[in-house]
Amino acid sequence: MSAISLDQVVSLCKRRGFIFPGSEIYGGLANTWDYGPLGVELKNRVKQEWWNTFVHRRQDMVGLDSSILMNPKVWEASGHVGSFADPLVDCKSCNERYRGDKLLEEKIGVEAAAILTLDQVKPMLEAEKINCPKCGNNDWSEAKHFNLMFKTQQGVIEGEGDDIYMRPETAQGIFVNFDNVLTTTRMRLPFGIGQIGKAFRNEITPGNFIFRTREFEQMEIEYFVEPKGKDKHFESWKKQVWDWYKDLGLDEKKLRLRDHEQDELCHYSTQTVDIEYEFPWGWGELFGLADRGDYDLSQHEKLSGEELKYTDPDDPKNKFIPHVIEPSFGCDRTVLTFLLEAYTEEELENGDVRIVMKFDKRLSPVQIAILPLSKKEPLIKKAQEVYDYLTDTTSLVLDFDITGSIGKRYRRQDEIGTPLCITVDFGTIGEDKDQGDPDTITLRDRDTLEQKRVKIEDLHAAIVEYWKS
Ligand code: GAP
Repeated sequence: MSAISLDQVVSLCKRRGFIFPGSEIYGGLANTWDYGPLGVELKNRVKQEWWNTFVHRRQDMVGLDSSILMNPKVWEASGHVGSFADPLVDCKSCNERYRGDKLLEEKIGVEAAAILTLDQVKPMLEAEKINCPKCGNNDWSEAKHFNLMFKTQQGVIEGEGDDIYMRPETAQGIFVNFDNVLTTTRMRLPFGIGQIGKAFRNEITPGNFIFRTREFEQMEIEYFVEPKGKDKHFESWKKQVWDWYKDLGLDEKKLRLRDHEQDELCHYSTQTVDIEYEFPWGWGELFGLADRGDYDLSQHEKLSGEELKYTDPDDPKNKFIPHVIEPSFGCDRTVLTFLLEAYTEEELENGDVRIVMKFDKRLSPVQIAILPLSKKEPLIKKAQEVYDYLTDTTSLVLDFDITGSIGKRYRRQDEIGTPLCITVDFGTIGEDKDQGDPDTITLRDRDTLEQKRVKIEDLHAAIVEYWKS
């Protein structure tokens, strides 16, 4: 099968209830997306896997859930008020607005585009003959800084409230709680704080489905270390994150590391490496690992007047501001890569094409579907017993599907990525020996299409065995 397109995945997401266009009944709101019944399960699973791996299963990590709205001084201290901006250019013919660096990326490369100064953007757009994608003219304004933070107001009377910002990264909630966490836990360096939550950026050119949106979710870790020897933590995180993506099913051939050039680094970073994924439109950032040094804690100490130092428990005279290694994951981009990676079209022996979402079974939104062969009452009753038994004895997400032919139902479960189907037939209820022995069911594997007859009393063990594989 040829390479898949983004449109194929967007269409499946809509058709099967993974992701819908936002506010659709009102004609939508550009570049907003809503996660449907299956999408929310998939996204929750990604978050749960992340939390299990990086928070629960580690003694050097704790979690946090901080507010989206924060004191505006946070964003002065963090540098976002002054520096969190993209180069905006206007097309003077049709008034459409673009990110100048993004327009140039294809011609001059991502690295070169990222380090352009504002006054270089317009001449470069002219020299490279990059015309407005909307009207086709080459009539650009000078580039200007456009701050990406969404501003809103706090208070009940319009105009009288203080201006506040929707957080553009979850990281700052962790920094401002550094001392709270330190004093309420027994954490010692090196240790990290993990957080999953929404972030908001008034992106000039959102697009490519859920890749770049103005409201998105991040899964971030701020890992506090002693300045000496911090490079080994940086290298270790790079490997751990790469392995996490690989373990959950991303093809290593579609992953690559990209170090940021010195001039490309964010205002807070002394070293950054991205993990990029080969999306249908080309390579794009999936994850960023930054060495933030002591920038954030020092800035917050300065502006808040509160001490944010760490005292070495073995040497109380040794007080210092820890350095920070920051692994920052885009949650929606991670979901998108798993959707793209899972999407498979297979030609069957009879010439039909089967669409299968080959999610890792830990990520599948539905993990087992229970399918009575027909709607006959004894079959439904038996299938319901199997469903209740599995609900009581496992924590797997189950589906109970009785609509359509069994072939159609298998197809539907393949398209949503259900790894196992259980079929209850007339053999199960002792009415047709040809279908199988009484009190046995058929277990169907999504990927191999293998069908196995299993005694109901052995079902639990068979499922445990399958989940271990
Ligand atoms: N705290 C560091 C930070 O926010 P970033 O590289 O700006 O760093 C981290 O963002 C991750 O968040 C990115 O690697 C990307 O996966 C995700 N991300 C950033 N902007 C996004 C957007 N507009 N839409 C979706 N995901 C985004």
